[in-house]
Amino acid sequence: MLVLGLQGGPRKKGNTNYLISAFMDAAEKSGARTLTIDVTRKNIIPCKEYTVCEKKGFCPIDDDVKDEIYPLLRQAEVVVVASPIFFYNMSAQLKAVVDRCQMFWARKYKLKLKDPAANMRCGFLLSVGATKGKNLFEGLQLTTQYFFDAIWAKFEGSLTYRGIEGPNDLAAHPTVLQDVAKAVESILKPFEGRKKVLFACRENACRSQMASAFAQYLAGDKLEVINGGSEPAEEVNPDMVEVMHEKGIDMGFRSPQSIDEAISHVKPDYIITMGCEEQCPYIPGAQKQDWDLPDPAGKPIGFMRDVRNEIEKRVQDFIEDIA
Ligand SMILES: Cc1cc2nc3c(=O)[nH]c(=O)nc-3n(C[C@H](O)[C@H](O)[C@H](O)COP(=O)(O)O)c2cc1C
Repeated sequence: MLVLGLQGGPRKKGNTNYLISAFMDAAEKSGARTLTIDVTRKNIIPCKEYTVCEKKGFCPIDDDVKDEIYPLLRQAEVVVVASPIFFYNMSAQLKAVVDRCQMFWARKYKLKLKDPAANMRCGFLLSVGATKGKNLFEGLQLTTQYFFDAIWAKFEGSLTYRGIEGPNDLAAHPTVLQDVAKAVESILKPFEGRKKVLFACRENACRSQMASAFAQYLAGDKLEVINGGSEPAEEVNPDMVEVMHEKGIDMGFRSPQSIDEAISHVKPDYIITMGCEEQCPYIPGAQKQDWDLPDPAGKPIGFMRDVRNEIEKRVQDFIEDIA
């Protein structure tokens, strides 16, 4: 599982960076895969309110948010926002990322699409500010709450520290590392003990994508789901995206990947192939099933729908079987 950090503090040796680094170290030690994006060093163009996202569900602005941050926000099951307080809110660079996530808001509330990770993803807030007023973190909390809502993350909690200004102030705080360890433990607890399942097909463009989205959506609390292909395509199949959208499941921001890539971070307990069993690598200890489903690529969209329905049924049966 991926824990994604959005580090919004411009100072490399600042307190915000110290805080999120401690958080990610603790998550990594607990077995999670972590990735921190230093947003102040990325090419991020603020939202220009073109409103394309509200009609079509995508943002026409080309930058690191589009290429890197959108797909990662979809993959992550935990999203950690970290920022110093700048005028009672997050840094402008981080706020620019948040505003660009209006695109996720539009997919959720205008296009009525549900992220497959909707039932599992959670968000956590980290912040520091120089002064000590009661309302210091209120603006940030509110912005973060609505950001998490747009990206389908449940707001799990926050660690915020007042009176922090000089570069080493937070490192000298008496309880910060214990606070972080406790927070990480409680956030990762619901993800513990999930069975890991790999869905594999040839191109990772249709069948294994649909199966993994259904499995994550229906049983993300019991299953950690990955997917891959023996010969990954350049992109996922647009007809597959369309038939999943008919079911209200958002397949945006997914790209095919190889099976090797898929299993590089996760050792599956189950491998489910779609009729291409022999092309799947041997993974010791993993239980194999072959669903032997026809490849819908290049066939009429009605065929894609039939395969989708069959996959949904099989995923439901699989979830019942392992329960
Ligand atoms: C542009 C700017 C605005 C700030 N606004 C506030 C503020 O509204 N309230 C506050 O307590 N501190 C404010 N500060 C101080 C920072 O929150 C504080 O220095 C913090 O520790 C910086 O985190 P860092 O060590 O990660 O850089 C501001 C600092 C800057 C540079």
